[in-house]
Amino acid sequence: MSKLLLSLLMLLTMSISACSKSDDIELPTDNEQTGGNEDDNEDNDQPPLGGNGRYLVLYASRSGNTESVAQLIQSSLDCDILEVEPTIAYESDYNAMLTRAQREQQEIEQGNYPSIKTSVDSFDNYDMIFVGYPIWYGHMATPMQTFLHRHAEKLKGKSIALFATSGSSGISTSVSEAQRLCAESIFTPTLHFTSSTISQMQSRVAEWLSTIGTEKEQPNSNSMKIKLTVGDRSATATMVDNPTTRDFLSRLPLTITMTDYANAEKIYTFSPTLTTQGTTLGHSNPQRGDIDLYVPWGNVAIFYKVVNGNSQLVNLGHIDGDGIDLFDVSGNVNVTIEQQ
Ligand SMILES: Cc1cc2nc3c(=O)[nH]c(=O)nc-3n(C[C@H](O)[C@H](O)[C@H](O)COP(=O)(O)O)c2cc1C
Repeated sequence: MSKLLLSLLMLLTMSISACSKSDDIELPTDNEQTGGNEDDNEDNDQPPLGGNGRYLVLYASRSGNTESVAQLIQSSLDCDILEVEPTIAYESDYNAMLTRAQREQQEIEQGNYPSIKTSVDSFDNYDMIFVGYPIWYGHMATPMQTFLHRHAEKLKGKSIALFATSGSSGISTSVSEAQRLCAESIFTPTLHFTSSTISQMQSRVAEWLSTIGTEKEQPNSNSMKIKLTVGDRSATATMVDNPTTRDFLSRLPLTITMTDYANAEKIYTFSPTLTTQGTTLGHSNPQRGDIDLYVPWGNVAIFYKVVNGNSQLVNLGHIDGDGIDLFDVSGNVNVTIEQQ
């Protein structure tokens, strides 16, 4: 029996026989903290925007084991990640922490979930949510039980991939807990490490991610859509398929300063210049919002005014909707351009 398990069993026995000690610890429960209403929770830790938008890794971790697995999943998929944290941090004193965790589990069994400070408004952008936690007294760590309890409605119909770490206990009780809490979610096969298998993390995470059908999101090399971001505003553009556009797309992502030209266009000169081999030159009626290459100067131009047609222009695409407004400003514009 491992040292840890032994000390846990000892502490379990100690705290059962010394009920008055754990009774002294007063912790807010989820109901007390939020009045049972999620909207009351002002400390709203949202996942960062960005990542690839398909996967979210949620994890709770006290001593870092589950966090390491979570980070490996995150870096393997290049996706969003968010730690689920208690409102009041766990005690650094190990015994006090064990007592509190045990007390929280007992409270959960009475329907009182301990308070957490993490919440997510919507999972709409995610196809799959990874949920990672340590095993505490055979159960899912209490902050994650609270999280699933509070978010079950929003997780309806979502795929949940559970992963856990423990000293030696199995994952099955916590899987049943998650399935009960999120009865209308879809559960994938799980991943579990004990202290004797955690060293296999690299290979087993890779194998598991492949088994459950995830893959690192790559920019779609066939996509003819680009995203242009100026400050905190973005627009999309639909590109025209020709060899010059394909060369342009192969240079993305790119953050550049586009300079103003003649109060009608923003321009940027590529070096080396974009290829025109195989592309038919000439654009007779450029429109506001068009993205063109002007061949003699080798510059890409975004027209925010209507300009004259020219036999040396090549149309690369057009900014969707009223997105051209981002460029209809005086002076230079810093823009990030990426493929969608
Ligand atoms: C409060 C508490 C209870 C625990 N209960 C168990 C248990 O029942 N079975 C077990 O194998 N490990 C147990 N452990 C050990 C943890 O599950 C294990 O160390 C885990 O990897 C910790 O993950 P973390 O580093 O992400 O916090 C417990 C640890 C703590 C702090």
